[in-house]
Amino acid sequence: MFHLNVRHLLPQQQVSSLTNIFNPEMGWTHWIILFLFVSVCECWLQPDSDPQMHGEVKSPQYPQPYPPNLQEQWDLSVAEGYQIQLTFTHMDIEASAGCHYDALTVLYEGKVLGKFCGSEHSADGHHPGNQSILSPGNRLTLIFQTDNNNPERHQNVGFSAQYQAIDLDECSSPAPEDGSGPVCDQICLNTLGSYLCSCHHGYELRSDQRSCMLSCGGGIFDEPEGHLSSPGYPNSPPHAVSCQYVIAVESGFTVSLSFSDNFQIESVDTEQGLNCLHHWLQLTIPDREPIKLCGSKSPGLIATNSNTVKLEYHTDDQGLSNGWSLDYSTHRVQCPVPDNVAKGRVTPILSEYFYRDHIFVRCDLGYKLMMDGQEIESFSTTCQNNGQWHLPLPECHIIDCGEPEPLLNGGVTFLSGFQNRYGSVVQYHCNEPFYSPLGGVNVTFTCEADGKWKSKHNSVVTPTCLPVCGQPTKHISVYGRIVGGDDAPDDTIPWQVQLNAGGGGMVIADRWIMTAAHLVKNIGNNTIQIYMGHTDVKTLMRFPVYAASVHPHPDYNPEIYNNDIALIKLRDPITFSSSIMPICLPAENATYVTGMMGLLSGFGRITEYGPTSAKLRYVHIPVVNQKICSEAMGKLTNNMVCAGVPEGGKDSCSGDAGNPYALSDDGQFWAAGISSWGVGCARPGKYGVYTRVGNYLDWINKTMQEN
Ligand code: ARG
Repeated sequence: MFHLNVRHLLPQQQVSSLTNIFNPEMGWTHWIILFLFVSVCECWLQPDSDPQMHGEVKSPQYPQPYPPNLQEQWDLSVAEGYQIQLTFTHMDIEASAGCHYDALTVLYEGKVLGKFCGSEHSADGHHPGNQSILSPGNRLTLIFQTDNNNPERHQNVGFSAQYQAIDLDECSSPAPEDGSGPVCDQICLNTLGSYLCSCHHGYELRSDQRSCMLSCGGGIFDEPEGHLSSPGYPNSPPHAVSCQYVIAVESGFTVSLSFSDNFQIESVDTEQGLNCLHHWLQLTIPDREPIKLCGSKSPGLIATNSNTVKLEYHTDDQGLSNGWSLDYSTHRVQCPVPDNVAKGRVTPILSEYFYRDHIFVRCDLGYKLMMDGQEIESFSTTCQNNGQWHLPLPECHIIDCGEPEPLLNGGVTFLSGFQNRYGSVVQYHCNEPFYSPLGGVNVTFTCEADGKWKSKHNSVVTPTCLPVCGQPTKHISVYGRIVGGDDAPDDTIPWQVQLNAGGGGMVIADRWIMTAAHLVKNIGNNTIQIYMGHTDVKTLMRFPVYAASVHPHPDYNPEIYNNDIALIKLRDPITFSSSIMPICLPAENATYVTGMMGLLSGFGRITEYGPTSAKLRYVHIPVVNQKICSEAMGKLTNNMVCAGVPEGGKDSCSGDAGNPYALSDDGQFWAAGISSWGVGCARPGKYGVYTRVGNYLDWINKTMQEN
């Protein structure tokens, strides 16, 4: 900012050495040496390049008397835009008329602003008093000269002065003498160290930052509608105008220009027609060639189909234009009317669609929205600011429910419809006669609009096929016997199984076998093998199935064969057929009616001491009165039931333990007894004793449910 450059010119005695350097007769080498010397001095003497905003200047040895023969110079400079204000705090320089002897001269760019000497009360000389000196610009030079004949030199102490940088008010300064005119065309704003130019309303600053031009237009017209006109309309505009109007509204809207009939812009007629050589109104729409308008025919309505349009009105300093005016309006961008969607509906149905309008597509019942091969939950699209829908329309594809759930031990039949599509109807059925549908009817399912197969009760639960129990596909036609029995034809006793434990059992569910506890109480899960589905032992034994767990009744009493019942859970479920079918469990209120004929079957001995049977045998024997049996057999409990005939000859025997004794109601066999014990086999007055299964329904169901 403030730059004080002091050049000390040495006192006389040293002047000679300097004079030698400055000797006019010096050759050019001397001048180079001198330049280097002075530069070094300059640099060496140069104060810190970081100047201050204020400071002081004093004569040498101040406040002691100054020496004679001085030529001291101070070059003060500050940044552009500032002046230097110099104020003397003390001056005592030998007074003389015109400050001829000793003097402090103040100059600005070589021009003397003042020559001072004397002191406040000296008669002659020229003391500045309290008056500050203000440099016209940002420089000031002080030269202090003293001669060598001052008789009282020891008295004069010279001077001290304060200086400070003062902002230059360029706006108040007189116009430069070079005729370039005032610093600003219209409005000048003084600032610290500089100034700014501005213009009156309706004008704008040119790029030279000082002159103003008629501002017309300018700014952004972003309202949905508006009015534009040439400067001074309907009067003719001034010459040499250059107006710019930018209409820029929200994207998604287009601008339309409606010129009034009062339109006249100078044009030049040429062979090619009107030529807007000197005056024109140019329309510029993005991505299009600019259009120049001139002549005296109004352009009328111009739809720009753009949300921005720039108008540039230009006239030179000649010619005549009466001007123009227009109203602009905006309209939402339009999107194409959407196509129809097969098996769907587009809403809302309008005759035109505009920016920000939404449309929705819903499919007819039973059809689903598909986009790029993917099903979508819903669809809407919006008219964008570029006049296009933001998404292509989807398609409606018929709902496909997929393959209906398979039915274990049953199947599905298509009743109507096509493949697994919406509206198709299928019917579940069970593999009769071995299974029947829970609920007793074959359920139909329809492929619904939600893509699910549903029954008429709106259930999605696949039906269940329950095993048909106790209804063999073949019936034993004659009354045969096990001891005293006959070979059982295939498929007549499909619940019969054989164990590798010296006895048999019966199928009661797809993973459960019922047998006697005394047969399996000491056998591990992995030891037991179960055979079924055949009536001859050789074939039978080729197809063992295995046990997952064995559950003898917890209260089984081996002493008296009480609670002689056990369940075996199979590792894998059985698929029932004519040769393997469960026997029914007794009903809750099952009754054992004395004399009721039951069916006993098994592979046990065919005589008391004979071999076991190689074929499955059966015999029909009646239920025996409990009291009669108890008297005949002793140690009978209520958990037992007897079957046989008083004359003997028909009975189970060793190897028949666990085998089924079946009673039948309406042709459906149920497990009334489990062969448990006897005295010998088929002896007169003795009976076979069977575990009364009807007493164990709770335990059976609980065991099957819990395991
Ligand atoms: N406890 C024999 C067995 O383990 C069954 C005996 C049946 N006896 C009879 N006379 N019913 O095979």
